[in-house]
Amino acid sequence: MVEAKLAWADMKHKPADRSDVLNPIRHILEKEMKPPQNHPKEMIMLGLGEPSKKNGFDLPEVINESLIEVIKAGTSNGYTAASGTIEARQAVAKKFSSEEYPIDPNHVTLTFGTSGALFNAISVLCERGTEILVARPGFPLCQPICENLGVVYKHYDLIPDKQWEVDLDNLRSQINDKTRAILVNNPSNPCGSCWSEAHMKEIIAVADEHRIPIIADEVYYGLSYDPEREFKSFGQMTKTVPVICLGALSKIYCIPGWRCGWMLTYNNNGYFDQVLENISKHSMILLHPNACVAAALPRILAEVPESHFTGMKEKLKASSDAAFGRLSTIKGIKPIKASAAMYMMVTIDIEAFKDITDDVDFCKKILAEQNCFTFPSACFFGKNAFRMIICTKPDVILEFGDRLEEFCNAHLK
Ligand SMILES: Cc1ncc(COP(=O)(O)O)c(C=O)c1O
Repeated sequence: MVEAKLAWADMKHKPADRSDVLNPIRHILEKEMKPPQNHPKEMIMLGLGEPSKKNGFDLPEVINESLIEVIKAGTSNGYTAASGTIEARQAVAKKFSSEEYPIDPNHVTLTFGTSGALFNAISVLCERGTEILVARPGFPLCQPICENLGVVYKHYDLIPDKQWEVDLDNLRSQINDKTRAILVNNPSNPCGSCWSEAHMKEIIAVADEHRIPIIADEVYYGLSYDPEREFKSFGQMTKTVPVICLGALSKIYCIPGWRCGWMLTYNNNGYFDQVLENISKHSMILLHPNACVAAALPRILAEVPESHFTGMKEKLKASSDAAFGRLSTIKGIKPIKASAAMYMMVTIDIEAFKDITDDVDFCKKILAEQNCFTFPSACFFGKNAFRMIICTKPDVILEFGDRLEEFCNAHLK
């Protein structure tokens, strides 16, 4: 006999434990730090790294034209190959290949932004119960991905006084026989730094020594404005260590909402032969990114002029200089100069304040009192610091500096 069931209204469906994940940035943004209502000062949003029109970053005309052309043609409204069309994959391969390090279009996979690429790469390299090493401070999306997959993420430290280089001894000490990948992010969010070639070689040497592949999150590809530390891709630095590079249209082409990214698999030593097969299978779960954007991709990659990238870097440098100069004069905090990507980290001397307990408290209070949104470094596995974006106009940054100074002075001991 079938037992009588409770009524639907008296029951609760328990969600799967693996969906109980935390994306620290989104959690703070959407749930914890609510902007104050009716604040007399206008909101200064230095949270999300969005190179938008409002923040002073205009799209090169060809980007919109490419998409309009595709939509008008009406030929890209259907499904395409799960890993992306061959035309799109060829275009990505061409853009990121060099003579010394050519990329096989069959080793390119289109993804749902860099986020999708990260999810694919971790899914394919790491088994439940195995480990991946991630930077601290670092971009925290690996946390919900690993929680969802049952993969353990462990940290290696970056050193702020050495332009956020990796503490190599610390990195080595985290490696064991369960380690399946080292995740690097260069240029870095949240640090606003770009590693020198010499330092990248040191990281590659550790990976080589322990036979651990590298996942390189290069969503800020090329975005270094320090002439002494020009960007180089990890995939284009080694013929020995297997590397998966991740990138997207999001940041460097200023269209994060279009959700189009890619994975480039450098199959050195044939190490990824089986992985490549599974990347292709795994991409059949969620399929390709938006087909219209993917169809516009070849034209975007080929025709966006170099002046777009140089212009972007000039703007970022101007804002970074303005931020560092202004914040350096404020008591209780210390900016760490940014030279890449779209962010600057600012350390907080918690002891200098009479009524601030930590970085989360600092960011909540400056939001409530000055209507300025920044992210606490707790969102990036860090502590006693906050991250501000610099992909905004210098006058916004200077206004933030004034409000920050007023805030700090009001709370200093
Ligand atoms: C380091 C890093 N990786 C990945 C992402 C996600 O990028 P996408 O918008 O392409 O998914 C971001 C976004 O801020 C990021 O900063």
